[in-house]
Amino acid sequence: MKTQVGIVGAGPAGLVLSHLLHLSGIQSVVLEAHRRGYVEERVRAGVLEQGTADLLRDTGVGERMSRQGLRHHGIELQFGRSRHRIDFAELTGGKGVTVYAQHEVLKDLIQARLEAGGQILFEVEGVSVQELQGPKPQIRFRKDGNDQELECDFIGGCDGFHGICRPSIPEGALKIFEKAYPFAWLGILAEAPPSSQELIYAHHERGFALLSMRSATISRLYLQCAPEEDILSWEDARIWEELHRRFEVVEGRMLQKGITGMRSFVAEPMQYGRLFLAGDSAHIVPPTGAKGLNLAVADVRVLAAAIAEYYRSGSTELLDRYSERCLRRVWKVQRFSWWMTSMLHRFADDNPFDVRRQLAELDYVTSSRAASQTLAENYVGLPFE
Ligand code: FAD
Ligand code: PHB
Repeated sequence: MKTQVGIVGAGPAGLVLSHLLHLSGIQSVVLEAHRRGYVEERVRAGVLEQGTADLLRDTGVGERMSRQGLRHHGIELQFGRSRHRIDFAELTGGKGVTVYAQHEVLKDLIQARLEAGGQILFEVEGVSVQELQGPKPQIRFRKDGNDQELECDFIGGCDGFHGICRPSIPEGALKIFEKAYPFAWLGILAEAPPSSQELIYAHHERGFALLSMRSATISRLYLQCAPEEDILSWEDARIWEELHRRFEVVEGRMLQKGITGMRSFVAEPMQYGRLFLAGDSAHIVPPTGAKGLNLAVADVRVLAAAIAEYYRSGSTELLDRYSERCLRRVWKVQRFSWWMTSMLHRFADDNPFDVRRQLAELDYVTSSRAASQTLAENYVGLPFE
C-alpha cells in the first residue's frame, strides 16, 4: 500500500490531521488499534477552545457541535464557601468555549472522513514505523491476520501517550521533561441535570472538585483522589457523599466512573526525520486547564499547513520549523495547566502557608481584572501565530 501521509492513531490529532490534509487535496491513511465503537464511545475531554470549535465549524465538521454543544461564556471558581465568576466574553472580547464531548467530535470526524472516501483502518495490530530518516518511511501492521506495509512520504505519530511512535525514536534523540502530581481525578458521568449553568472549579479543604456537564440532563463530575486509589473501593454512595461535601450537586444514575492519573510531560523535538509527533504522543497536560484535546488540534493545524506547503512548493521550511512552532504553544499551555492545577488542588504535604497562599491567589484572580483576564485568555485558547 502507498499513501502520502500515514497516520498512526484515530484520536483527535490523527483524525483532524487526516481531515485537514484531505481539504488540501492530500491523501492519508489512518491506522487505529481499537475498534470504531470503542473510539466513538470512550469518555474523555469535553471542553473545546474557541479556536478548536471555530476550526471544526470552518472545515465543515461542526454542524452537530453547533446544534448540540453548549456554548459557555465563563466559569466559576469556588473557594472559602463562595463562588466567583470569570466572565470570558467580557474579558476576551466575546470569546468562549464549547462543551461538547471528545467522542462526539471523533464521531463527526470519522463520518466526514469516510463519506469523503478517506481510509481509516480500525483494529490494526503490531504497528511499527521504519526508515524514518529516509525519503519513504513505512508503517508495518497486521489487519485481519495479514501482514501489510504502508509506504508514505510522511508519518503522523498521533497515537497518544502509550503509542509506539515516540518510543520508535532512538534514545538520545529526544529530551524528556516530566512532572508527576501526588493526586489523581475520580471522574463520573451521571444522568443528572447539572446544578450549575457553567463549570465550577472548586478549591476545598478535602481536595479539588469540578462540576462539568455534557448536556442539560448529563453531569460530568470530578473529585481529587489519591493516585493509587482503586475505583472498586468507590461505590456510588461514597462518591456522592464526597461530592456533596465539596459542592451542591444533583444525584442521578451513574453511567460511568474511572480514575485518571495526572502528569505534565513534553518530548522535544516533536520530529524525527519524517516522523512528526502530534498531541498526547508528544505531550501530556494535567486536565485542570481542559487543554489536552485542544493542544492536539493546535499541533495538527501547524503540521497540516506545513505538509500542504511541501506539496505545493517543495519547500521543507515549514516542516523544519514544525517542532519549534508547536513547542512555543505547548509550553505556554503546560504553564497554564500546571498553574491551574497548583492553585486548586490539595497537596499531601500542604503546610498551612501553602493553603493560605492558594486562597490569596484565588482571591487575586477573581478580584483583579488583569489576573482574571490572564485566566480567561488562556482558558478560551491563546491566539494562533
Ligand atoms: P488519543 O486521543 O490518545 O488518541 C490516540 C489514538 O491512537 C487512540 O485512539 C489509540 O487507540 C491509538 N493508538 C495507540 N497506540 C496505537 C498503535 N500502536 N497503533 C494504532 N493506534 C494506536 N483532556 C481534557 O482536556 N479533559 C479531560 O477530561 C480529559 N480526560 C481524559 C481522560 C483519560 C482517561 C485520558 C487518557 C485523557 C483525558 N484527557 C482529557 C486528555 C485528552 O483526552 C487527550 O489530550 C486527547 O485525547 C489527545 O488526543 P490524541 O489524538 O493526541 O491522543
Ligand atoms: C470535562 O467536562 O470533562 C472537563 C471539563 C473541564 C476540565 C476537564 C474536564 O478542566
